[in-house]
Amino acid sequence: MIPIEVSNLKKYYGNVRAVDGISFTVNEGEVFGLLGPNGAGKTTAIEILEGLRKKDEGEIKVLGMDPWENGYKLHRRIGVIPQEFTFFEKTSPREAIIYYASLFGIKTDPDEILKAVLLEDSGTTLFENLSGGQKQKTGLALSLVNSPDLLFLDEPTTGLDPNARRAIWEVIRGLKARGKTIILTTHYLDEAQQLCDMLAIMNHGRIVARGTSDEIIKQHGSGERLEIQGDEALANFIRASTGFDVEFKNGLIGIPLKQKTDALNALEAAAHSKMDWGEIRTQRDSLDDVFVKLVSGVVDDHGEITGSNNG
Ligand SMILES: Nc1ncnc2c1ncn2[C@@H]1O[C@H](COP(=O)(O)OP(=O)(O)OP(=O)(O)O)[C@@H](O)[C@H]1O
Ligand SMILES: [Mg+2]
Repeated sequence: MIPIEVSNLKKYYGNVRAVDGISFTVNEGEVFGLLGPNGAGKTTAIEILEGLRKKDEGEIKVLGMDPWENGYKLHRRIGVIPQEFTFFEKTSPREAIIYYASLFGIKTDPDEILKAVLLEDSGTTLFENLSGGQKQKTGLALSLVNSPDLLFLDEPTTGLDPNARRAIWEVIRGLKARGKTIILTTHYLDEAQQLCDMLAIMNHGRIVARGTSDEIIKQHGSGERLEIQGDEALANFIRASTGFDVEFKNGLIGIPLKQKTDALNALEAAAHSKMDWGEIRTQRDSLDDVFVKLVSGVVDDHGEITGSNNG
């Protein structure tokens, strides 16, 4: 069975088109990443799939069910970490797991779950004393209590330091290796590339790109370019002698390569100029570059999307 099928899903809040006709499928065993700037509609979409919000329009099937109509049944079969997960301060992860199991009316081995989320050493630490990463791991642990095959992780690594993020990645990879299907949202493009088999980039309630990271880059990115560290005079010289579309910005000369010999011709021109230049490399758009183009968002030095300036 296909775990998640979404067709033309819509959810409006007054004039805000939070989700504006999105369609996608998540296949079994896949890690599917929803990307997009703040307010793109990721949480709204995910929470509709979880049966927590009611759709306005569209067809959705989660494990073959309509999530809103079959919430009770569905919640027994999925695992969820909400955005900004918190828990009772005076409870340990181990107690929290036992408590969750009792809510589901099931027996579970807390140690096995603590192990699966790499939290064996902090199982008895009170929630209030856990680090951010350990808190997120507790969330992951709770999402696993009912042994779900389908997990919804809304920003599982936001606010964590690089090591803690990598620890969560390791847990997610472990879950994938055990055959779980995972849909996650993230503001970290490197994380999406590291973890996700398939991506959908949302902006203003719509999916603006979909596919593997490579497919999205190929489809929406610019082709290969030659980059030469040099000054504007050299850029002008190469442009004049080759007729190429030479760009110049921040000490970097950029030449789009329509064919491989373009690089040779450009370098030959540079040599003829008798001017000096620095590093030479060829470059393609990264997922960051493509993301910025698609959502006019801003990606900071850490690869985190910090906003959208077209809405
Ligand atoms: N309950 C609500 N009532 C009114 N508007 C809402 C509600 N929930 C979400 N919205 C609006 O819908 C849009 C999408 O919000 P949503 O939380 O789904 O975005 P998001 O992609 O998850 O953003 P973030 O990256 O900040 O978590 C936003 O404009 C938001 O203000
Ligand atoms: Mg959100």
